[in-house]
Amino acid sequence: MIEAEWWDYEDEDELAEAVAGDVGFIIESALDARGQALIALPGGKTPGPVFAKLAKAKLDWKRVTIIPTDDRLVGVKDPLSNIAQIAKAFLPLGARVFPIVSEAAADYKAAGKAADARLSELHWPPDLVWLGIGADGHTASIFPGPDLDEALNGPKTRRALGVMPDPLPTEAPVARVTLSRAAIVAARTLTLVLTGKEKRKVLEQAIKQGASSSMPIGRVLAEAEQAIDIHWCP
Ligand code: 6PG
Repeated sequence: MIEAEWWDYEDEDELAEAVAGDVGFIIESALDARGQALIALPGGKTPGPVFAKLAKAKLDWKRVTIIPTDDRLVGVKDPLSNIAQIAKAFLPLGARVFPIVSEAAADYKAAGKAADARLSELHWPPDLVWLGIGADGHTASIFPGPDLDEALNGPKTRRALGVMPDPLPTEAPVARVTLSRAAIVAARTLTLVLTGKEKRKVLEQAIKQGASSSMPIGRVLAEAEQAIDIHWCP
């Protein structure tokens, strides 16, 4: 049974304020408890306004490591790059922004193996994994396709893998590297942030379907043992 609590807001600004406050609190609590914080942030368009507000938080950013929940196999100058969006917001604050995609990778599977090796250098688990969701029910870069089973049911120690979505998503039709389901559900805190009635309907359906969901988000959340906060506005 997926245990999820919905937090609804009037508009994107109210949502951004609330989520930035929550993430700031999670970081501060991690710094107090362990002297360091590791958070995983999503790509896409939704996070932008939240990043802008979170970047104003008075935190000891040099002790914060930030990884993307997933990234596209593109260069950092490509507008599709997730790490570029994260770096723009948090590098100037002194945070350690930790890319998981290297352009040198021969192919997406090799890129995934390299990402997994890089992530194995980090203290684990993440204090927070913040997930977005696509209208097709993907999350991070866990998509339907030839790598879905590996993303969901690979070795529990595997933190990241390469993914070739099939079909390729129109908004970013490229191969990716993603956190695995095991890495996502290992997080101390798991939160979802989404906007719009369509995605809400998709997520409610995926939660209802649970482990047998045809949508990756349902399959991922079905393995979560922690309570999940879902932040939403119309
Ligand atoms: C990515 C993201 C992805 C994103 C959703 C929602 O690389 O595409 O990590 O999982 O969170 O696609 O994207 P929007 O916020 O743009 O709707």
